[in-house]
Amino acid sequence: MIRRARHEDWGAVRDLLRELDELHAGLAPRYFRAAARETREWQQLLAADDGVVLVSTDDGPGAAVTGALSIRIYDTPPDPAMVPRRRGHVEMLVVKAAHRRRGQGRALMAEAAAWARARGAVEMVLTVWSGNREAEAFYQRLGYGVLSRVLAMPLG
Ligand SMILES: CC(C)(COP(=O)(O)OP(=O)(O)OC[C@H]1O[C@@H](n2cnc3c(N)ncnc32)[C@H](O)[C@@H]1OP(=O)(O)O)[C@@H](O)C(=O)NCCC(=O)NCCS
Repeated sequence: MIRRARHEDWGAVRDLLRELDELHAGLAPRYFRAAARETREWQQLLAADDGVVLVSTDDGPGAAVTGALSIRIYDTPPDPAMVPRRRGHVEMLVVKAAHRRRGQGRALMAEAAAWARARGAVEMVLTVWSGNREAEAFYQRLGYGVLSRVLAMPLG
């Protein structure tokens, strides 16, 4: 089941973010580290009027939160060289490791796309860090293609 996140989901979502942070810290240690997340961050996410946080729950009696996604609407900045478009940016998606491959990620993404479309978005955009093969296979399966590549080189 997919629903909007509530304040009291924070404990479960914080555990999910830990999984995501550890994954990203392993993939890109120059950029990420697994650090404590603060409740304030959660309050800001829930309060954002240009975004939404969705959670997926398992079908056990307690309907535990086992997946989470956050998405924000972005409009192209006023630049004559850019095509004005409204897009939905998926900023966070994670399904608890033991609950993967059961359709939760797909269901979260479908609900997020519907949410964005209802607000005038014409496209979904997101970033996958290099080496995240699970996510690459997942998004490819959902029909996502590569839009750009970000290159980096450490200096000294
Ligand atoms: C990416 C992620 C959210 C997918 O969630 P999920 O609930 O397992 O995905 P679904 O069960 O809805 O998968 C839908 C389809 O995507 C494809 N897919 C998903 N995971 C895959 C994998 N590890 N390898 C190959 N294909 C995969 C499959 O085709 C799958 O359908 P199927 O199981 O019927 O074959 C999950 O793997 C995850 O949380 N990963 C760690 C966090 C992360 O990388 N988040 C994204 C950051 S950009």
